[in-house]
Amino acid sequence: MTAPSPRRRLVVTAAAALAAALALPAAQAQSGPIKIGVILPMTGPQATTGKEIEGAVKLWMQQTGGKVAGRQVEVLIKDDGSVPDNTRRLAQELIVNDKVVAIAGFGITPSALAAAPVATQGKTPLVVMAAATSSITEASPFVVRTSFTLPQVSVGLADWAVKNGIKSVVTLVADYGPGIDAEKYFAERFLLGQGKVIDKLRTPLRSPDFSPVLQKVRDAKPDALFVFLPSGQGAQFMKQFKERGLDQAGIRLIATGDVTDDDLLDDMGDAALGVVTSHHYSAAHDSPANKKFVAEFMALNKFRPNFMAVGGYDGMRVIFNALEATKGAGGEALLAAMKGQVFESPRGPVYIDAQTRDIVQDVYIRKVEKKDGQLWNVEFATIKQVKDPGKSK
Ligand code: PHB
Repeated sequence: MTAPSPRRRLVVTAAAALAAALALPAAQAQSGPIKIGVILPMTGPQATTGKEIEGAVKLWMQQTGGKVAGRQVEVLIKDDGSVPDNTRRLAQELIVNDKVVAIAGFGITPSALAAAPVATQGKTPLVVMAAATSSITEASPFVVRTSFTLPQVSVGLADWAVKNGIKSVVTLVADYGPGIDAEKYFAERFLLGQGKVIDKLRTPLRSPDFSPVLQKVRDAKPDALFVFLPSGQGAQFMKQFKERGLDQAGIRLIATGDVTDDDLLDDMGDAALGVVTSHHYSAAHDSPANKKFVAEFMALNKFRPNFMAVGGYDGMRVIFNALEATKGAGGEALLAAMKGQVFESPRGPVYIDAQTRDIVQDVYIRKVEKKDGQLWNVEFATIKQVKDPGKSK
């Protein structure tokens, strides 16, 4: 055998040093806590989403002792202020520097879409706890969703409207991904039932002024106004709907549950009474699992959980269940262990579709009612096991 040349020896040594450097953090990671990164809007217009999901993450950690597969879990919560450039940078830092096994959260669609390529590159599961545009799960094979989609909650309401004598509507949505989904799927389904869509109106995501569009709705005189606005905007909208006298003009308000969101509902006052919405979660959902969830969430956080909180809570559950299965390992094994999970959520029975990585869940038609002096979204009809209709196109 001839001795290796000095040059070759150098290369071998360098490669060994690199291998050792790479092996070291992995060995340390085995003994240290498992880290999960949660990126949320804790400030800015979507701060209520951040507050709700943070409250749910805290509850999950309290209930589980923050332990899985015999190891401690550390959750790193980062504020992106709903600015997609921030979301992308934070996702990168969490994956590369903090070596998290999963990134989660994502208050709005543009944030989820900004982080998706980072998840693909880092082979790290990305759990969408809030954002709800249908196409997000197609932005990366590492995306898994525990929130909902707008098509999922809009088609059942269109059917309900047709069956309940509503013959004409105007649609009003926030002018970006989820709003465009809601408008399209509601209108298509309503037309299928021989309904008439008189006008389709959109408001900007940031600082919307509802006065001009509400005037247009008044003039168009539809039987009903169908609305999607992202959670956090409902109270302001409801106030203006009432002030402009649309209810007095005999125009019914129907909406996705984002508008009568449980976080703000009780402050909307009687203007919200009788509004019919469809959604996947109400804090008034009548099941033992939900009663326990609401009681413990309120004891810990001192505010009512809304659908964002449930998306966050179930997101933590999906990550923990998967970590249990992989014994703490991340990457593609963790992603595989998220697919096909079936469990009872506070919202009702759900599963993660193994093909689409999207959540399949019951959707409820609800009406705002007063009970014991407080406003609640009271469910009165259930559409079972709704898959995202956006995936079949
Ligand atoms: C979204 O940006 O995807 C989004 C945000 C808030 C909602 C629904 C969807 O209530």
